[in-house]
Amino acid sequence: MVTKEENERMTLVAPGTPGGEMLRRYWWPIAFSAEIKGPRPKLVRLLGEDFVLFRDGAGALGLIEPHCAHRRAHLKHGRVEQNGIRCCYHGWVFDTKGHCLEQPCEDPVRNSKDRIRMKVYPVQDAAGLVFAYIGPQPAPLLPRYDMLVHDEGIRYVWGFRDHCNWLQDAEQACDPVHLGWLHAGPYPIYANKKMKFEINRRPWGIDYAFEVPGVPDQNVGNVVFPCHNRFASGRAEQALGTRQNMLFRTPVDDTTTDNFFITLYITGDAQKVTKTETPPEQAHRGPWIPTERGIYPPGDEAWWGVESMMQDRMCLESQGLIHDRTLENLGGSDAGIAIWRTLVRDSIDAVAAGKDPFGVIRDPARNKVVEFGTKMHTYAPPLRPLPENAAA
Ligand code: FES
Ligand SMILES: [Fe+2]
Repeated sequence: MVTKEENERMTLVAPGTPGGEMLRRYWWPIAFSAEIKGPRPKLVRLLGEDFVLFRDGAGALGLIEPHCAHRRAHLKHGRVEQNGIRCCYHGWVFDTKGHCLEQPCEDPVRNSKDRIRMKVYPVQDAAGLVFAYIGPQPAPLLPRYDMLVHDEGIRYVWGFRDHCNWLQDAEQACDPVHLGWLHAGPYPIYANKKMKFEINRRPWGIDYAFEVPGVPDQNVGNVVFPCHNRFASGRAEQALGTRQNMLFRTPVDDTTTDNFFITLYITGDAQKVTKTETPPEQAHRGPWIPTERGIYPPGDEAWWGVESMMQDRMCLESQGLIHDRTLENLGGSDAGIAIWRTLVRDSIDAVAAGKDPFGVIRDPARNKVVEFGTKMHTYAPPLRPLPENAAA
């Protein structure tokens, strides 16, 4: 039974909240790499705070506090130049390290720009996404998840926004049995079937393996702390066949969560292509599919009447902006959710005690590629192990 206080402790993300402090110990995707270019910066919101993201003329990413050090004009209106971002009000320029390079209205002999320092945050590209870290220094390592490293196929990078709290998204990933009902339309092999499943704790979170009568072999998926889902899929509408996916869920604020997908089609001919767009079966609406709370595109008329990829959002948003866990009744099929809440509580307690929370990696020797073994029965086999791991 979750109390009101526990629910708030686990779900709220702002700075200074127990959950927010815990979530600040991880890297989060905040944008597509391909969109961060040219003269216009991007306003991004992460864990209830605003930042401005840009890539300077030399290709370096910068994630900077939003208001200019001079008189606080917003840098989202600024212009990105060769060496940094120029504030629109009086032209001060800041580089990706937070130094002030120019104060064009000031007397140069005073050299006052050297005393100015803007707050900047670690940021890096990986597999077509921009990842940011806004917690205390030193930053941990970005884990080497297989989908950030494998590229032998066609990789699509795309996403959309859920209008609800991040923990609802995490708990959905821990709940494989919903496939037989919510996704009965796109997954007719699972429709209305009771699955036999097991859930195991793993160094990154959990994995689940389930079997369904009449379907060969197991479906193995993974949930990666704090909020990500690694799964193979073969929805009925997938024009290019089965695919491997890593779905990162980024808490934007208490009631908004961004879904960043990396979807890889194994083509067998060693293509190495990253496309920032939705996969073909999603009618090229991307890369960022606009969503509105409570509005779901029609589809799958035989079951719920909602388009396949928006079915999860429909359920998660319908639980409420922040799901009230004091009112629910968990069953045996919710075993993964119970484990996840233990990980969240333990991680919050660890941070409060001055320790690293679950799964944080700091030692480069421990940051081996994470081979999840994710598969969808015999239809989508696991990714081939990378040579560096095969030799280990
Ligand atoms: S407020 Fe930014 S340069 Fe003056
Ligand atoms: Fe789902």
